[in-house]
Amino acid sequence: MEAGTEFVPSDFTRLSRSPRPVFKRKVYDDIFQGRLSLALAQVEGVKVYRFSVLPKGESAMPSTHALAPGSDIAFDVLEGDARLGLAKVLSGCTFQQSLRARFEFSFPLAKTALCLGLGERYSSLNLRGARHTLCSTDNPNHDESSDSLYKAIPFSIFLDDGLASACFLDSAAPQIYDLDSELDGQVRIELLSARGFSFYYFDKAPLSQIVAAFTALTGRSELPPLWALGHQQSRWSYPDAETVRDLAREFRRRRIPCDTLVLDIDYMDDYRVFTSDKGRFPDFKGLIEELARDNFRMVTIVDPGVKLDKDYKIYQEGLKLDLFCRDAKGEVFVDRVWPGRSVFPDFQMEATRKWWAEKLQFYYDNGVSGIWNDMNEPAFFDTRFIPVSSFDELPETGEQPFLQRDDTDGEPTTVGHLEVRNLYGSMMCEATYNAALAARPGERPFVLTRSAFAGIQRHAAVWLGDNKSWWEHLRKSLPMLLNVGLSGVPFAGVDIGGFGETCSPEMLLRWYEVGIFFPFFRNHCWLKGRAQEPFAYGAAVEEKARRLIELRYSLLPYISGLFHEHRQTGAPLMRPLLYHYPQDAMALNCHDQFMFGADILVAPVMERAQTHRYVYLPEAGSQWTALADDKTYEGGRSHYLEMPLGTCPAFVREGAILPFADAMQSTGEYEQAAITFKVYGQQGSAVFFEDDGKSFDYKEGGFAQWQLAYSDGFLSRLMGGHYKTSRRYFLQKPDGSKIPVQL
Ligand code: GLC
Repeated sequence: MEAGTEFVPSDFTRLSRSPRPVFKRKVYDDIFQGRLSLALAQVEGVKVYRFSVLPKGESAMPSTHALAPGSDIAFDVLEGDARLGLAKVLSGCTFQQSLRARFEFSFPLAKTALCLGLGERYSSLNLRGARHTLCSTDNPNHDESSDSLYKAIPFSIFLDDGLASACFLDSAAPQIYDLDSELDGQVRIELLSARGFSFYYFDKAPLSQIVAAFTALTGRSELPPLWALGHQQSRWSYPDAETVRDLAREFRRRRIPCDTLVLDIDYMDDYRVFTSDKGRFPDFKGLIEELARDNFRMVTIVDPGVKLDKDYKIYQEGLKLDLFCRDAKGEVFVDRVWPGRSVFPDFQMEATRKWWAEKLQFYYDNGVSGIWNDMNEPAFFDTRFIPVSSFDELPETGEQPFLQRDDTDGEPTTVGHLEVRNLYGSMMCEATYNAALAARPGERPFVLTRSAFAGIQRHAAVWLGDNKSWWEHLRKSLPMLLNVGLSGVPFAGVDIGGFGETCSPEMLLRWYEVGIFFPFFRNHCWLKGRAQEPFAYGAAVEEKARRLIELRYSLLPYISGLFHEHRQTGAPLMRPLLYHYPQDAMALNCHDQFMFGADILVAPVMERAQTHRYVYLPEAGSQWTALADDKTYEGGRSHYLEMPLGTCPAFVREGAILPFADAMQSTGEYEQAAITFKVYGQQGSAVFFEDDGKSFDYKEGGFAQWQLAYSDGFLSRLMGGHYKTSRRYFLQKPDGSKIPVQL
C-alpha cells in the first residue's frame, strides 16, 4: 500500500459471492448460429475431446497462448453433430450461446464428486458448493467473501470414485464456475465473451494421468535454476545499498542459508521501471557483483505500469511506438499505480513483448538474476470495475475500460480488455522469459509472477500474492497451493510469514516449518509490520529457523528430482493426499496435510498456541518415519502427535530412499556437497536425478538418472544421461550406520 494514499484495489468481483438465488437464475434461449466442431486426441493415455466454438461473425479462433507451442498433439475431427457428441462424452452436457457475449455449459455432477483445480482459489481443497469467478484481480484483503484472485486458470477437475475427469475452457475472458452451489447437482460454466474458444473435456482417468494430459497440452516447466529453489529473502523494501549489504552480511554471519535477496519497488528511481535510484543505489551493478562474490543472487521487481512522465525515455518510446493500451476514444489509458499516473503496455501485441524484452536487458546488464513480475492483473489504484459476475454478458468492446490489440494470429484486431484480461500477466511473463533467454543464452531463467493464465508454468513460477500474517492465511496456503499445482503449475509458494499485518515469532516458525516444503521458498512482507527476517525475533527463534532452512537445503537433491519428475509427468511437487491415495476416504477429505512428492507427507501445525495435532498417515500395514527424529508410526490411522515449535512436520514413506545433501550456506556450495542416501525401512528403492542445476544441458543428456535399491546391499543403475560430479555419496543403512558408496 502506498503510504498516505487510499488504496483502491481493482476489484472486479467484490460482490460476486453475493448469492444469486436459484429463482433469479435467468433462463435464456440458445441463439448460437456459428460453427462447432468436435475433435479427439489421445493425450498421455487420456481421451481429450476438443469442442471448438466459433460464433457467427467471427472469422478465426483467437489463441490464448495457453497451448505449448510445438506440442504435436493431433486432434482428429469427429464427424456428426458436435453438440450431441459432447453430450455423449460428457454425459448430459448442454451448451448454448445465451446472449451476444455469453456462453453456457452445464452438466450433472456425481453426488460424491470432489471439484479441484481452477488455479488460485481462496478455498479449501474441494471447490464444490460455491461459485468461482475467474477474472484476474488484485485483492490484498482476501477472505472468505472474496472470489477472483490474482490468477485465472480455467482447468476444473472432478474426482469421483478414484477417477478424475476435467474441463479446460481455453478463453482469456471472464468465466464463472458454479460447482453445485445450489445443491442441484449441476456444474454451470458461464463464459462472458463474444469471441471463439475451445472447450476441452478430459475423459475419466486417474488424477495423475489427467494432470499429465493437461500439462502435455499446456506445457511443463523446464527445470528451474537450482539457486531459485534456495531460500529467498524479500521485503517491501530494502531501501538502499547499505541495507542490502547488511542483510547479506547478517545471513552469512549468522549462518542462515540464503541464496537470493529481493529488491522491491524502492530500488527504482521514483518507481520508473528499468531504472535504479542513483542516490540510494549509487553503484547498482557493483552492489550486485559484490553480493555475487558471496553467492547471493539478486531478484528485482518489475511492474507493468510505466510512469507518465514526458521526460522518461521508456514512456516516450512506448508512446512513439504506440505500444500502450488505449481507451475507446483512442486516448492512452492512464491510471495510478506506485509511480503515480501511469500507462500500461499492451502485452497482447508481439511488438510490445519484444520491446519490453529489450528494455529488460537493463537488469541483466546489471547482473540481476531473476525478474519478479508484480501488479500484472493488471492492478490499478483508481479504476473501479463493475463486478464481472453481475454482468449477464461481457460489455460491448467500446464500453470496456480500455482496449487491446491482439496480433497473436497475424493482423492486429481490437479487443476489449476484458476479453483478454486473464492473459495480461502471462503475456508479460512470456516477454520476460524470452528476455532472460536472450540475455543469458543457455542459462535457466527465473521469472516470478503474481497474475497468470493456463500454461504459465512454461515461463514463470508463481506466488499467491498479498496474503496476511493470519493463521487462516497460513492454513489456506495448503489447499490453495494444492489446487494451483493440480492446475499445471509446479513452482509455487506464498509469502512466508505473511505479507500484510504483523507476524509473531510463533507464526513465523510455524510458517517456515511448512514453507520449507513449498516449491518457491520466499520470506516477504510489507513495509508496515515488524521486520520478518528469520533473525529478527531473537536467538531462540533464529536457531529453530536456521535448522528448518538447513533442512530445506539438504532436501535440494530430492526437490530437484521432483522438478525432473514434473517435466516427465506433469506432477506437481505439492500433491493432495488423494493424488497418491485416491481410494482412501480419509485422504479425500484432507486439506491440512499434503504429499511432497510421493515419499514425504507434510502435516504442519497451523494454529496459534497449538503444540499437538492429529496426523493422518495412509496405507495400513506400512510404516512412516518422522523426518525430525526418526520415530516410526503405523500407516492407515491418525496419530495425535506432539509438535513443539520448530519441529519439521514431515513423515517419510516406508520403502523410500531420500537423498540428503550436506549443509550449505547457499547453492553455490551444492556441487561440492556430499549426498547421503537414507533408507526408510529395511529395504527401499528410488530414482535419483542430478544435473548441473544451471544450464539446459539436461535436454541433451547432461544429467544422470539413477535407479537406486537397497535390500541386502546397495545397488545403483544408470537409467539415463551422462552427467558426472566429483561429489561423494554415502549410504545410511536402516541400522543408522553410514558407508561410502559409488554411483
Ligand atoms: C504488491 C505485491 C507485494 C509488493 C508490493 C510493493 O502488493 O503483491 O508483494 O511488496 O506490491 O511492490
